[in-house]
Order: sequence, then C-alpha cells, then structure tokens
Amino acid sequence: MKDLFFKDGVIGDPMNRVDGRLKVTGGARYSAEYELPGLVHSALVGSTIAKGRITSIDTKAAERAPGVMAVITHVNSIKVPGFAASAHPSEPSTIGQPLRVFYDEKIYFNDQPVAIVVADTLERARYAAGLVKVQYAAEQHQTSFDANTSRAVLPTSAKRNPKSPLADYDRGQTNAFQTAPVKLEAEYVIPSEMHNPMELQAIVAHWEAADKLTVYDKVQAVKGTQKAFAKDWKIPEENVKVIATFVGGAFGNGLHNWPHETAAIIAAKMVGRPVKLMLTREQMFTMVGYRPHAWQRVGIGATPDGKLVGITHEATGQTSSYEEFTESTLQQTRMMYQSPNVTTRYRILPLDVSTPIWMRGPGEATGAFALESALDELSYLLNIDPIELRLRNYTDQDPEKNLPWSTKFLKECYQMGADRIGWNKRPAKPGTLRDGDWLVGYGMGVGTFGANRRPAKARARLLANGTVLLQSATTDIGPGTGTVMVQIAADALGLPPKAIVFELGNSTFPEAPSQGGSATVASVGSAVVAACAELKKKLLELGGPGFSGAKPEDVTINSRVQMRAYNSSLPLEIGLRTNASVKVSYSDVLQRNGGQEVEVVGEGRPGNERQKYSMYSFSVHFAEVKVHTMTGEVRVTKMVSCADAGTIVNHKTAGNQMIGGAVGGIGMALTEAAVIDHRFGRYVTKDFAEYHVPVQADAPAIEVAFVDKPDLLVDPMGTKGIGEIAIIGVAPAIANAVFNATGKRIRELPITPDKLI
Ligand code: MOS
Repeated sequence: MKDLFFKDGVIGDPMNRVDGRLKVTGGARYSAEYELPGLVHSALVGSTIAKGRITSIDTKAAERAPGVMAVITHVNSIKVPGFAASAHPSEPSTIGQPLRVFYDEKIYFNDQPVAIVVADTLERARYAAGLVKVQYAAEQHQTSFDANTSRAVLPTSAKRNPKSPLADYDRGQTNAFQTAPVKLEAEYVIPSEMHNPMELQAIVAHWEAADKLTVYDKVQAVKGTQKAFAKDWKIPEENVKVIATFVGGAFGNGLHNWPHETAAIIAAKMVGRPVKLMLTREQMFTMVGYRPHAWQRVGIGATPDGKLVGITHEATGQTSSYEEFTESTLQQTRMMYQSPNVTTRYRILPLDVSTPIWMRGPGEATGAFALESALDELSYLLNIDPIELRLRNYTDQDPEKNLPWSTKFLKECYQMGADRIGWNKRPAKPGTLRDGDWLVGYGMGVGTFGANRRPAKARARLLANGTVLLQSATTDIGPGTGTVMVQIAADALGLPPKAIVFELGNSTFPEAPSQGGSATVASVGSAVVAACAELKKKLLELGGPGFSGAKPEDVTINSRVQMRAYNSSLPLEIGLRTNASVKVSYSDVLQRNGGQEVEVVGEGRPGNERQKYSMYSFSVHFAEVKVHTMTGEVRVTKMVSCADAGTIVNHKTAGNQMIGGAVGGIGMALTEAAVIDHRFGRYVTKDFAEYHVPVQADAPAIEVAFVDKPDLLVDPMGTKGIGEIAIIGVAPAIANAVFNATGKRIRELPITPDKLI
C-alpha cells in the first residue's frame, strides 16, 4: 500500500524474512547454543512438594558424582544482594518480587528449584541432579482453584489506586442487566494454559568480572532483563549485558525473569565459570509462567430489539502465593459495545503454584471468551444475527474514556469475514446443518487490544560500503521484527532492503521496550523512522555548499541503486531528490566527519494524541466447524481472521502472525489444558503427549484479511499491533460455531469430545 509517508512501495511488500535462511539452515544461534571458553553445564533439582519447608538436603552423592563441580542449595548459596524482605509487612513475604532463588528453606510451589548442579557436561549435571536427596516438612497446600474461590482478593495495585484499570468499574447503574427485558447470566471457565514455545528456556551466565555479568538469555526484554539483574546484584546497569539475538518463540513467557535464570547466575558466580542452563520440556510446564486459570461470570441484558441495557463481567484469575500477577481481562467489556451500564469486577486468587505470566492476548483472550460467548448466547435469545447484534451496539467513540477512536475499521472486518467464511450458510437454528455424520456450524468472535506504543531509540550508521546499519535493543520472538524494520528503514531512506541491516537482541544497543503487548512495530518502527530522518539531517549538514537550504527529507543516499537491486561496489553518493546536479561522494562526507562513518540515534515516543484519542487494534474471527454426531470430535474446517491493525508493513509476516494466533486460539478452544493432581499439587500435563497443542492436522487453511488502512495518530507508519488480536476472539468464535452446529453451549474450555456427547 501507499500512504502519506511512504512512497516507494516497500511498505506492505510480503518480503521474505531477513533471518529466514539463517533460521532454517541452523545458522541462527539461540541462547543454549553459545559456547564460551571454560563453559560448564548445569541442571536443576525441583521440589516435590507444593508447600512447606526443606528440612535437609543431602548433596554428598551428587558432589561425588563424576564431573560435578558444585551442588548449590539454599544452605551454601551466596545470597543475591537485591533480594529483600517485603516492603509491606502485612503482605506475603515476597510480594512484588520474583521468587528469591536459594534464599531460604521455604517452598511455594511444586518443582520450585531447590538446587542447581554444575558439571563438566550436561549429562553428568543431569545425572548428579538425580542424586540430590531432599527432605521436607510439608504443609497443606492449596492448588485447587475451585476449592478456594472464597479467597479471591482485589489486587494490591487496585487497592492502592482506585483509578487502576484493575479496580472495580461501574458505568451507569451497577448490575443494570438484571432490569433488562431479555437477559442471561452465565459462568465461563478456562484452565491454565502453557506457552510452550519451540525453543526451551535457556541461559548462559558469564561473570566477566566480579561486578560484570553477561547473559545469553531467552528473553523478550533485553533492557528489562539488564535492569532486573543489575538490581538483583546491585551493580551498575552498564555492567550487565543481555544477548538475545534469536528467540525461538515465547508467546509471553519471556516477559518475566524466572528462577532458573537466577540459579544459573548464582552458579556462574560460585564456580567462576560460564554456566549454561537449559530447561527440560517438563520444566517448561512448571516454572516459567502460564495463562492463569480463570473463572468468569457475565450478566448481559438487552431490549427486544437488541440494544444492550447492561453488562456485568466478573473475573477471577489465579496467581501464586509469592507474587501478584494481574492482567486486563475486562478491558474489552468496558469499551467494545455501546452499553450505558457496565459493571466489571476483577479479582485474583493466590494459590500454591508458580507465578502465571502474560500469554498471547493476555487477559483479553480470557475475557473475550466470556464476553463474546455471552453476546452469542444473547443473539439466540433475541433471534438476531450475532453480527447484526454487534452492529446495533457499535460505538463510534470509546464509551469508557469518552474519546474518539484514532481509527476503527471494525465494520470492514465484519464484512470481510462474513463474505469470506460464507456467513450466509450459517443456520439460524442450531443443529440443523449436516454433512453426513457431521453437524456443521458457524461462529464469530471479536478481539481488541490497545494500540500501544512506548518510547524507543534506534541507532543508524551509514557504512562506507553504502549499507545502513540500524541497531535497537528490541527482540524478535518470531513475528519478523527484524524484517519489517528493514522495510521501514528502506522506505524512509529510499534504499533497497538489501542495503539495510537491522540488529537487535543486545542490551548495549539504544533503549527499546520489551517485545510485548503488540507494541514493537509502533515503538521501534517509530524510532527507526526518527533515526533515518536524523541520518538524512546529518548528511545534509555534512554535504557541503550544494546542500545548503535543502530539506533533510530530500536527501538521497546513492540514488543510482534500484529498489530491488543493490551493488555495494558502486561508489556511494549523497544527493538531493530535488536537484540531480547536487551530489557529493560519501568519501568526502567521511572526511568532513573526521573520518568517522556518519552515525545518529533517533528517538520515537508517543505524543499527546493519546490523551485525545482512544487507540485500539480490532479483529474479528470466523470459524466453520464440523462436530461428529457420534464421537463429539470437533474439526475446525475453515477459519477467517480479519484485522484492523493499521498499515500492514509486511503482508507475509503479518499474515503469519494472524495464522499463528488463530492456531493458538484453536488450542485454547479445543485442546489445551494444564491439569494439576491436587493430592500432590503437581502438574500431570508435562509433555506434549498429555498437554495438547494443536498440530497441523488440527489447523485448517486459515484465511487472513487486513483492512490495511493507516492510523497516523498511533505512529508515523500508521501501524497498530497484531500480536494479541490474532488470538483474542478466536476461542469464542469456535465455541460459538460449536453451539451453532450442535445446540450445545460449552462454557468451560477446552471443548473436548466428552463435553459434546
Ligand atoms: Mo505477549 S503475551 O505481549 O508476548
């Protein structure tokens, strides 16, 4: 597409990923693949109780095992200097901080790391870890959500700040749905779900000096991790270096620092060698976060012609006993529909489990399951088509903030999706459309997520060979960040993508936010645009007399290169778009710059538009399902996901994001559930045989459609985030399709065959 800012057609191009070849040939190096001189291996020992105390640890056999260099437990561990007692004595001892690894004898969850064994090889470390014997004084644990619902509490942040989005919210009259002529009230449950990216969590921790730490770590935030470890170890931030050049998927579980990272850092300090620690797949299920188990109740009421009277939405999400995890489960309910009365109540329930963390579409994927299911239920009560019901309650401005939308092309999404899925085939009466032994149904669900943007910086350097090297301390967990930044820079500079190199995943680069909350392109892309503008400005200053009075945006770099071709042996020239006779060789510019390559740092930050407009991305997902009449098997036979995500910088990578989100949503709807055996407070779903992520056979052809209209209030490229809206609304679309097929309303995920027969 073309828009006001980009004239050369690179934006929107379904360009291949710049790192695709490295990834598929094994050339991309992930955290566990770093080798350093003297590097040693390690393995964790996890607790076998969910709550209590360690009474003794026998490490002798492990210490005597071949190749073992250290067995570290709370008994002999150095103490992390930043670990502190709670700032709030009335609250749990560790509230507000991650688990204090090897700090004391206390056990907070099953498989909590209680020892790390360091050895010369991975096999020897893992073998010796099996020899560590731990005795416990167990206390009665509480891991069952259902048995503890009465203990749910308002999060501390909402107690302290009544304006917090987590605080109780009342628009209009409380629980007004009860007065509506047509109403329903229903409860919805989702189990905990585990991220399980392909790459296992891993770290190589290397103390280069007593106060200088380098980690190669699988994280979504290199700067955030740098700050966290600097604080833990009470050393200057610049003494901590975090490398995450490649991240093999994360879905959110790289947005927090976990016990294994600290364990490896402690071990590296104690043995004086770089220590590598890679979790096992089992440990990926127990100590690196998950989408929390949640209970929700929705009350919704309308007039007979489908005007909402009120929505009441309550949600309780599980958290750990030592850390308060919260997420914005109820945001969509407050802003999506034109209801005069909205009541939301959010609570958290601390249990003797590890801490949850944001998982793709955090909060909203959970909330939208309840809200969008309830709307579907209401549509049948009213006998109004589900899309029509939503259109009757469409909002032209944000009813929560009372602000205009920056952009909202949700109606376009409804139309695009309805056309593509064949919504006209949907039977108005459930259970009436058949294909042999299968019942066929159609459903849809809406998703939204804030079009977030955060301050970010990027460095741009024009190399003598004509390549522009860009660097920013963001990460790329798979969406193609590196690729789209190349496109944004190519467009901003008028250079072919081949002339741009974008480097990320290094905390020494200019500051950028974590890759989370669908904000990377808006944040870092804006910084890249700013850096490119700064670069042109600097080149103009150094260009000499011919350039005086010209505008920076008219500066061209090596204007002889063609968009698709690039020849680095051509002499590099700086010129002016407005006057072909003005040019200067880059070698002259270099001379004027004291022999230094021209380098600038650009910074992008959101402006005050955010006080004047409400900014959201929107998605609508459509599902066609077939449900077997005898086995209850659900097949998703077609999915269409439509998004209003502003300018689409790369239709291939953006489309991949949408497809990935839809597959995640299929897992949420049909297969994924973490199960705890409450006798032991221990997960029994700890591998892919027991915990079912959708595989190729579970995912149909998924069609993606973008509105692709820029939102220039969000950022200079006009983008809005995609990562979260790709999954938010998918699970209810499928649940609604299952109802349409069968007449059975399943309000507890996943929709397994036993619930349908
Ligand atoms: Mo995402 S849950 O913001 O990685």
